[in-house]
Amino acid sequence: METVVSGIRPTGMLHIGNYFGAVRNFIQLQESYPCYFFIADFHSLTTHPTPANLHSSVKRVLAEYLAVGLNPEKATLYLQSDVPEVAELYLYFNMNAYLGELERVSSFKEKARSQPDNINAGLLTYPVLMAADILLHKGTRVPVGKDQEQHLEMARTFGNRFNRLYQAEVFPEPQAFSETAELVKVPGLTGAGKMSKSAGEADCIYLAEPADSLHKKIMRAKTDSGPAEPGSKPSEAVQNLFDLMKLVCSADVCTFYHVAYQEGTIRYGDMKKQLAEDMELFIAPWREKISAILANDNLLAKTASLGAEKARASAAATLAEVRHLIGFRKFY
Ligand code: ADP
Ligand code: TRP
Repeated sequence: METVVSGIRPTGMLHIGNYFGAVRNFIQLQESYPCYFFIADFHSLTTHPTPANLHSSVKRVLAEYLAVGLNPEKATLYLQSDVPEVAELYLYFNMNAYLGELERVSSFKEKARSQPDNINAGLLTYPVLMAADILLHKGTRVPVGKDQEQHLEMARTFGNRFNRLYQAEVFPEPQAFSETAELVKVPGLTGAGKMSKSAGEADCIYLAEPADSLHKKIMRAKTDSGPAEPGSKPSEAVQNLFDLMKLVCSADVCTFYHVAYQEGTIRYGDMKKQLAEDMELFIAPWREKISAILANDNLLAKTASLGAEKARASAAATLAEVRHLIGFRKFY
């Protein structure tokens, strides 16, 4: 029996990298499997958002989940902080998570570099909490982008270690999942690496991006001085634009620009204009839906409370089993 679990940290608005890497799969999977999709607000404390921002970011992600088609009747949509059982499972996993293996995780090394004044223990044990998120519901499939592969490996390690230690088959082995053949990596607009909020505003196309800033951002995206010679390979920045086109443009349009590149007749300005138009068609329907849902406090409250109730029921069942295996017994 497959169970799907995934989450996203609330760090502001969702971008199309989050959509194609993760959320698009959520929408498909909710039709066929029990699904738990949450907002990882505990995880966001590893980078210390202010209390003033936290709630509005959570609200935004919840509204965006609903706007793109997640259905709270089908999937369980909840806030991580509404399910305190996850913190308990995290504590147990931490007892058997070793400093050496945690220090080797690339997201930890990256964060330690980018926030040298705040290398906190939560950052170090980020993959432990993530394993707890998944294994709390005995998740087997985890729809995430390519950057999360190593975290999934750790989740398998912690689950297997617990099984071995207590000689029980409590936890399955969760696998990263994408409907596409490979895990997705959506490039950003600034020319290097995956689209990411940490690369700055100009790198990201948000699901709720206003039409004028969408156009501006794409027209300003990095390119190069043109094909070096017919048949040469595009630079990373230009390849990124081709990759973005593949997500929202028709096959004919993509082929047209590929051929133009090969023949050395390409005009990057035209290509970007086309990409901006097709991207606008793609995201426009969401923009209004997101703002309508953001104003619907009743719907958001109902969604979060239904989700919390369903998620806690599943979590409580796992924790009862785990506590028994560890050896806790009640005196009363
Ligand atoms: P960001 O890097 O912008 O902070 P997150 O780390 O919060 O994004 O990512 C949330 C989810 O979206 C994860 O499953 C992650 O793998 C996926 N994701 C984020 N950026 C991309 C991207 N550029 N391409 C594919 N998937 C992505
Ligand atoms: N680490 C994920 C990210 O940065 C968010 C996340 C937290 C997650 N817990 C999870 C994803 C459990 C999948 C499953 O995007």
